[in-house]
Amino acid sequence: MPAIVIVGAQWGDEGKGKATDHLGSQVDYVVKFNGGNNAGHTVVIGDEKYALHLLPSGILTPGCTPVIGNGVVVDIDVLFHEIDGLEARGIDTSKLKLSANAHVIADYNRQVDKVAERFLGSRKIGTTGRGIGPTYADKMNRIGIRVQDLFDEKILTQKVEGALELKGQILTKIYNRRAPSVEQTVAELRSHAERLAPYVCDTTLLLGQALDRGEVVLLEAGQATLLDVDHGTYPFVTSSSATSGGACTGSGIPPTRIDQVIAIVKAYTTRVGEGPFPTELNDDKGEFLRKQGFEFGTTTGRPRRCGWYDTVIARYAARVNGVTDFVLTKLDVLTGLDVVPVCVAYDVDGVRHEEMPVNQTDFHHAVPVYENLPGWSEDLTGCRAFEDLPKAAQDYVEYVEARSGGRISVIGVGPEREQAIVRHPLR
Ligand code: GDP
Ligand code: IMO
Ligand code: MG
Repeated sequence: MPAIVIVGAQWGDEGKGKATDHLGSQVDYVVKFNGGNNAGHTVVIGDEKYALHLLPSGILTPGCTPVIGNGVVVDIDVLFHEIDGLEARGIDTSKLKLSANAHVIADYNRQVDKVAERFLGSRKIGTTGRGIGPTYADKMNRIGIRVQDLFDEKILTQKVEGALELKGQILTKIYNRRAPSVEQTVAELRSHAERLAPYVCDTTLLLGQALDRGEVVLLEAGQATLLDVDHGTYPFVTSSSATSGGACTGSGIPPTRIDQVIAIVKAYTTRVGEGPFPTELNDDKGEFLRKQGFEFGTTTGRPRRCGWYDTVIARYAARVNGVTDFVLTKLDVLTGLDVVPVCVAYDVDGVRHEEMPVNQTDFHHAVPVYENLPGWSEDLTGCRAFEDLPKAAQDYVEYVEARSGGRISVIGVGPEREQAIVRHPLR
């Protein structure tokens, strides 16, 4: 039986949380495989609205086992804060499993993230300030602290000493800040160990055995294709692998067991933080999208940068992820526009590019080539079948579908669970 991957096709906040929730009842496990509490997924169920950061969106589906995979970086305070928040609202979180190999975000890495951004000034990335980048850097540098280290004080002390040899110097000598002591850090991390223990296991084994039994595993990405550390708009990216390949390394599920890759794509584009964004609108149309789409970050509350749909990016996402299905979200937000431009190519210094330019400078210089499609004024939020959509909205979907490198299987017409049009069932 299969593993299914959900990824974001743009720069995040496409509605991955809602899509995972949509599939929730048909899957047995939902695995977060990358990122940490930089993610923010809003899921609306009836009158209840949930904002999830570190927990996989499948936590909201009774019967589904939520898993935090080895590829995730975990802020344990945030983990318990989220668990407590959900439990207080009657959500059972007892089935949660956490990989013993996931890395832990220590306080010194939250500090380095924030202070490094300040020092970068105009060259800053616009990170979420959660310590994500420095924690992944430690992992690659082989000085990271893993979940399993918390249960052995001697080992933990050795590892924290090793990490602080470098991180302490960086904080004090480069950034002129006070570094936390080894004892302080060990005590803080150890204080969580007892409560954490029941959740911790070998999640790779757990998931491999589940697949052997014929159960369905959904791998849910945080962030998105253009924020991927390899395939995104580097250096304006996050520090993890948010594309479908990352689902394998971040969970221990091999590529041969994945048979479906679902990419979530918004009917327009948004981005939070710094970095190039060819179809960005710095005018009243951008303000229209931000207002209508309520485009403010779930994690940091920052206003999201807004722009038109970009088929070059969608095709790129289809290619690097091996997309089998697209879920097009927030089509309802485009209601009320006379004309809806769609980017079909870029003009880079007089040369037409149909594919993502490999060169960073070219991407910074990319000027979108638009096709202007007719808009519509009808409210779409009550539509449940493709035929319910006004003709102009149907044409919009078919136009972007023909140029995005994959079929659009589901269309979102509102934030709620049932506000979706299923053209091809995902399962
Ligand atoms: P994620 O990070 O990819 O999970 O996305 P976010 O949750 O950060 O942002 C997506 C926002 O759009 C959330 O507030 C969702 O409730 C909302 N949303 C998702 N799908 C739709 C849709 O089809 N229409 C509208 N209007 N809102 C949607
Ligand atoms: P979801 O899962 C949108 C962006 C940050 C910043 C860059 C690096 O909700 O789609 P980081 O703190 O990760 O080192 O910041 O990545 N970013 C996101 N943007 N949605 C997200 O997650 C994001 N997670 C990180 O704004 O530009
Ligand atoms: Mg989000």
